[in-house]
Amino acid sequence: MRLDKLLANEDFGSRKEVKKLIKKGSVQVDGEVIKDVSHHVDPNQSEVVVNGNVIDYREFVYIMLNKPKGVISATEDSRHECVTDLLDPFYDKFNLFPVGRLDKDTVGLLLLTNDGELAHQLTSPRKKVDKIYEATINGVVTEEDVQAFKEGVILDDDYVTKPAELEVTETTDEHSWVVVTISEGKFHQVKRMFQARGHEVRFLKRRQMGSLSLDEQLPLGEYRELTEQELDQLKT
Ligand code: URA
Repeated sequence: MRLDKLLANEDFGSRKEVKKLIKKGSVQVDGEVIKDVSHHVDPNQSEVVVNGNVIDYREFVYIMLNKPKGVISATEDSRHECVTDLLDPFYDKFNLFPVGRLDKDTVGLLLLTNDGELAHQLTSPRKKVDKIYEATINGVVTEEDVQAFKEGVILDDDYVTKPAELEVTETTDEHSWVVVTISEGKFHQVKRMFQARGHEVRFLKRRQMGSLSLDEQLPLGEYRELTEQELDQLKT
């Protein structure tokens, strides 16, 4: 690809602007300053540096975010902070979007990518990808609740959920701590499942989606790119 075309594609300005940039010696290819705008580069092989910054040509990017409370799972909103606002502006050019949604007050694992195919694989109801949540529930969650989740719960709109796994890890007179596994992603699903059983969710955190587990080293609001291994597992 011609160097001027590549830089224009990478949003360094119009064809005319990037030609100027190249001619003034701001661009290096494989360590050498190149002033010839028609110089050919191989985007998969050459290292192109503009004003000291290495150009990142990747088509797809995959980010694991530990979503904090108060941020919405969207890319744009006139009133609220969005999950994409938490990312470094470096990622703007990739047009990342969240895979599925977590409620504004839900925390935990959220994948951000621009890979529409993978996003579809992970969110399509037909693929039945497991999502695992930790929750704190008002009241005592009983064995009957566990059984009801196993059979499917009737939600407020009469939808019967697919079987879900509910494990109670601790209870007091006032609260229960649970782990829930669901294979669907209906609106407010976990909260509505507990509501159908007469309980209220006080705290909700997603810790896993398919094979991808939240990196517990990531503080709330922090993110990192997936490792190659995490990505391979997620794709298979
Ligand atoms: N279920 C909910 O109720 N809320 C979420 O954010 C995710 C699952």
